[in-house]
Amino acid sequence: MEISESEFKEITDYVKLNYGINLKNKRTLVVGRLENYLVRNGYKSYNEYITKIKNDPKSREALTLVNQLTTNHTYFLRENLHFNYMKDIVLPQILAKEADKKSVYIWSGAASTGEEPYTIVMTLHDFFKTRPGWDTRILATDISTDVLNYAKEGVYMNEQLESIPSSWKKIYFEKYSPEKMRLKKSIRDDVIFRVQNLMQPLSFKNKFHIVFLRNVMIYFDDDTKFKLVNKIYDCMRPGGYLFIGMTEVLDKRNTNFKYIQSSIYQKI
Ligand SMILES: C[S@@+](CC[C@H](N)C(=O)[O-])C[C@H]1O[C@@H](n2cnc3c(N)ncnc32)[C@H](O)[C@@H]1O
Repeated sequence: MEISESEFKEITDYVKLNYGINLKNKRTLVVGRLENYLVRNGYKSYNEYITKIKNDPKSREALTLVNQLTTNHTYFLRENLHFNYMKDIVLPQILAKEADKKSVYIWSGAASTGEEPYTIVMTLHDFFKTRPGWDTRILATDISTDVLNYAKEGVYMNEQLESIPSSWKKIYFEKYSPEKMRLKKSIRDDVIFRVQNLMQPLSFKNKFHIVFLRNVMIYFDDDTKFKLVNKIYDCMRPGGYLFIGMTEVLDKRNTNFKYIQSSIYQKI
């Protein structure tokens, strides 16, 4: 099935406007991910597909578009420096500051298939195991329902656990099948998974001590990124830390976050 210039533009404009994702230079990706789906589902053209979505943006079809066009690559302990920084620098600060409330509020804002939020929870369990009574549940959100459903199960292929230390595997995982392991219920229960489009208003009951927003802003243009970073700033507590992907940067002139070191920022 051929995609015309105007159909490509219509799809990429729609995705940019609603999800912030800039696919203008990703023709091969868009066609590669949509073509089979359209053929299998009896569409005669891309135009028919995008018209249907625009007529009902809350439909199953619109959900499929998001699920097809998002890039969900992730893995356990990705950019491990952040988890070490959290354990060595950030959590000791929270421990001192919140000693009376014993609550730590953490948000993983592009959680994908769960490896990032579960790595955070295992890091928290390690840190707080000698400090009982702390509420260590975290919020994990993503725009894609497919990845969130996968994440909630907490089941991973053995190969996906290769980056995890064997001590963690022993304590936090159990055998699911010969090829798969599952995170124990105590870890799964510590993550609250929700759908959240980062382009929509952000409203949370509590302000966060730590936000992970890693490897998602690469798909956004500067203006979208700037607006999002300001919204995130407002969702955080003074002194809170923001971790972004290690290949990403925030423009210093456009943010109130203080630069700490590459990919780590603090709300002052
Ligand atoms: C490459 S993954 C990053 C996963 C993890 N943070 C990491 O660094 O390994 C990017 C995720 O961002 C999500 N995403 C893309 N646009 C989004 C939006 N507008 N709102 C919320 N999530 C979005 C995608 O669905 C995808 O799961």
